[in-house]
Amino acid sequence: MTSSAAWRIEPVGPLFGDVSVRGSKNAVTKHMVAALLGDTPSQVTNAPQIGDVEITAGMLRALGAEVAIAEDAVVVDPQADLVGEVPVSFTGLNRIPILMLGPLLHRVGHVTVPLVGGDRIGARPVDFHVSALRALGAEVETTAEGVEAKAARLRGARIRLPYPSVGGTETVLLSAALAEGRTVLENSAIEPEVIELALFLQRMGARIELRPDRRFVIEGVERLSGASHRIGGDRIEAFSYLIAGLATGGRVRVYGCAQDRLVTAISTLHRMGARFEITDDWIEARADKLEPAVVQTHPHPGFMTDWQSPLVVLCTQADGMSVVHETVFEDRFAYIDALQAMGAEIELFDACLGGPGCRFHEADARHSVVIRGGRPLHGVEATIPDIRAGFAYVIAAAAAEGSSLLHDVHHLERGYSRPFESFAGLGLQITRIAG
Ligand code: UD1
Repeated sequence: MTSSAAWRIEPVGPLFGDVSVRGSKNAVTKHMVAALLGDTPSQVTNAPQIGDVEITAGMLRALGAEVAIAEDAVVVDPQADLVGEVPVSFTGLNRIPILMLGPLLHRVGHVTVPLVGGDRIGARPVDFHVSALRALGAEVETTAEGVEAKAARLRGARIRLPYPSVGGTETVLLSAALAEGRTVLENSAIEPEVIELALFLQRMGARIELRPDRRFVIEGVERLSGASHRIGGDRIEAFSYLIAGLATGGRVRVYGCAQDRLVTAISTLHRMGARFEITDDWIEARADKLEPAVVQTHPHPGFMTDWQSPLVVLCTQADGMSVVHETVFEDRFAYIDALQAMGAEIELFDACLGGPGCRFHEADARHSVVIRGGRPLHGVEATIPDIRAGFAYVIAAAAAEGSSLLHDVHHLERGYSRPFESFAGLGLQITRIAG
């Protein structure tokens, strides 16, 4: 991966055209981990071409599994004797090592994984994962280098997550499927990517029920076998490209992501004045005039936190004052500086604005923004801090006057499938400068 590559972006006015999104980043890597639980190979198709898939494949290979990637298919063969240690060279690259604990405990019984990374958008602790594994009977120790866990056999337990965490829920699903007895998980995340993982595990032979009140009930089974699945479309990418069209006054048609994954995104954009055409194959958005918005991010089915940064860019183009309250991650506005440098009028607050108080009510965390829309943006030189912010910068650069230079585009290339080609296909002029 070229860590310091940059993009020079020349705005060309409204972006028009078609974009196809692949399977979701937040699902594909979890399916690759789930494959470790099978006693035969598993395959996922519609996999995105992203750095995270390569990183996860590298981890699985280091454990002794075979991984073959060809076009959009990823095959994981977990049948060899595995080792229980994800090498420290994978420290900080993504959130996947922590999810390996449960499956590796079943396979090896004694596991060490390095510190997890992912975007710097808040403290991102792993305490829910650790507590859940302890409840399932593992001895778990966190060290300066990572997490070490031991268990002769995991046993079902009743677990309640303090917050409906996506990763926390996935750790429990991946650990309880082969545990002895019944696990009840309360206050689960029910994001489409989580449900997709639960369905994949069911396909592998797991006994999983989803009760109406955010409760999963898992009856452990003795063995799971490999399964195949076509990964559902990436709702974060789909939303981001729709915004790229709207923010530049153009019209983008997105193929490959079903409407039901975008229901809250679509209703939010409707309120802002966007008009949609929706079919089984594609979704297209346009707007003659954008109204301001008051939006809070929430766990699914609420407005997704990863949609927040493109939405803020869109609000800079709306006619009036918008308020966005981030309630999932306490530090997800690191990109605001660059938008301000481009001329956007945005103010950050530590109060909970635009809705009821959230978990960060008393934290010293600037997690609400007020955006005065309608100010022209101009080009900027900026360094991309994380995946989602990076995409927001590109949209802002496309909506601005004058060229922009964005450094550290490797964040974009880790999380989006062929973003350079997709933006170029919409007419944006981008030059990639190798680092
Ligand atoms: C996943 C997604 C990310 C998305 C997020 C919320 C992946 C690879 N990433 O991240 O794109 O923004 O869900 O939809 O799928 N928390 C704790 N302790 C824990 C775990 C989480 O306090 O042990 C907190 C987090 O700090 C955060 C909140 O719970 O405030 C939600 O985090 P979580 O849902 O776990 O996010 P991830 O799974 O890391």
